[in-house]
Amino acid sequence: MCGIMGYVGDKNTTAIILDGLAKHEHRTYDSAGIAVIADGKIHETRTIGRISKLAKKVKEEHFSNGFGIGHTRCATHGEVTENNAHPHISSDNKVVLVHNGIIDNAQEIRTDLEAKGITFHTETDTESAVQYLAYVYEGDPKEAITKLTKRIRGSYALVIMFSDKKDEIWTASKGSSIVVGHTNKEGFCASDPSALLEFTNDIWFMDDNELALINKDGCKFFDFDGVEHFKETMHLDWNATMANRGNYAHYMLKEIHEQPHTVAQTLLGRVADNKVDLSNDLDWTPEQAKGWKRIHFVACGTSHYATVSAAHIMETFGTFDIRTEIASEYSYRNIPIGPDTLAIFVTQSGETSDTLLAARLAKSKGAKCLVITNVRDSTIHREVGDALITPAGPEIGVAATKTYTAQLTMLVLLGMYLAKLRGNLKEETEIRLIEGLTSMPAKLASLLEQEQEENIEKIARNFADAKGFFYMGRSLAYPPCLEGALKLKEISYLLAEAYPAGEMKHGPIALLDKDHPIIALVPKNILWEKTMSNIEEYMEKGSPIIAVATVEDEEISRYTKNIIYTPETEPELFSFVAAIPLQLFAYYIARQRGCDIDMPRNLVKAVTV
Ligand code: G6P
Repeated sequence: MCGIMGYVGDKNTTAIILDGLAKHEHRTYDSAGIAVIADGKIHETRTIGRISKLAKKVKEEHFSNGFGIGHTRCATHGEVTENNAHPHISSDNKVVLVHNGIIDNAQEIRTDLEAKGITFHTETDTESAVQYLAYVYEGDPKEAITKLTKRIRGSYALVIMFSDKKDEIWTASKGSSIVVGHTNKEGFCASDPSALLEFTNDIWFMDDNELALINKDGCKFFDFDGVEHFKETMHLDWNATMANRGNYAHYMLKEIHEQPHTVAQTLLGRVADNKVDLSNDLDWTPEQAKGWKRIHFVACGTSHYATVSAAHIMETFGTFDIRTEIASEYSYRNIPIGPDTLAIFVTQSGETSDTLLAARLAKSKGAKCLVITNVRDSTIHREVGDALITPAGPEIGVAATKTYTAQLTMLVLLGMYLAKLRGNLKEETEIRLIEGLTSMPAKLASLLEQEQEENIEKIARNFADAKGFFYMGRSLAYPPCLEGALKLKEISYLLAEAYPAGEMKHGPIALLDKDHPIIALVPKNILWEKTMSNIEEYMEKGSPIIAVATVEDEEISRYTKNIIYTPETEPELFSFVAAIPLQLFAYYIARQRGCDIDMPRNLVKAVTV
């Protein structure tokens, strides 16, 4: 997914843009570029590869300060070449722009313009936008951009400069997110809000079908007909340090270590005196809650696995009819959805297009919709309205870690709150689980002690050459296997399968051998004997065992020497204490294998197309 940074102001434009692009490095990219307008001329540098390479090239060319835009490209239309990298400049050198998204009718526009004698220089869909803009530009940027928005189809966040308009940056947004900020005679725009945090926390999220003009005096917003409107700033309660790697080798490791804090933050204000209370977040009444006959959890990736854990936990309360659905399937099946459905959409980014489409569908069918997201005012939050915001702070590592446990926390609280509103939460269950949750930050911290981490690192070192892994557990110990296996796949590129331990014998057992270790999740209080009897059978097939077991489980050492101990916890909360060891295991396997941990190949943090 491409990243964009724009700046207008009196500071070192090039440095600010390069720094801003670096803050988008967690988005997969293959090339990068920057354009600065100084003395009415567009100065551009592009390169294949990393931003550091771009920075060196820019220095060599010594271009002066002015106002500018930068871009990291993840190729869709046209190969990965320097020439296809953004920014793109019109043939008459008057307009320059960067683009995130896809212009569906690019070829049609190109053919039209070529027939009018305009020469194209790249293979990109983006060039059709810049050439068209230059073609219709008669000195009024807003007029030209509104014409462009009527001519192009597709999704886009465009950031545009005109060489004859000093200190002006324009943005146009439709189906692709971009944020804008302003402070002390400086204006900014970026794909990722965390890139603006060191300048300001008060930002504007561009809406669909919206234009913005950013200059030193401020920002103005218009619709696609050019009519100006007022727009409230949003205050982000994140800070710049949250988006820094600190002394950690990777953002992922830093974010794993933040989990005791982020879980505690999520509990804050929602539990007191051994009671759960979400009335500050949700204005639901007991009557409403009783009216929802079906609960749909809809999400993708890690967020989906958080909902699978939540559903297993909520089942233990008794009365829920719950489905956990993958967002990209939800919209295309004939699942009954109606006013008696509570549809809960979970997405850390709030921008995943499949989840957004699913939410639109549920809303159109009259379901009560709720979002759990880590990004306040993200697209899904703005569209759905009712939301629980996880306070995990910006997550930079592509593989989700701290947002997963924050989601889990929020989901457990929500499940308990709903059950309580419906009159189905026993008091002793509420007390027991709240005690379990409030002691969780300390338990997670104990899992991050040096000795624990060294043990996991050692086990990972011994198994880094395996061909693939099976993750196994039963009942409440099964959902964390799904997330553990996903983590390993994402960052180490190894095949990893999660199976309910009792299901392995129906096929996958054929794959077991010494090159396919089993990660067995065997907490003492969740079907220990049944799981161990499965494991014993699988060991006979030659698969080494790595056990995630409860502290002081002495019997487990009869089966394996590779043991990761977790603190005792309520069975319903086992997903929490399983998360950190499995994240660390994936992390150290990936490190052993020399993988690009924060930016795994082929993955993006938010899938917006
Ligand atoms: C991408 C990311 C995953 C993430 C999934 C859902 O695939 O690489 O890490 O779990 O999207 O993202 P969301 O922002 O909707 O939670």
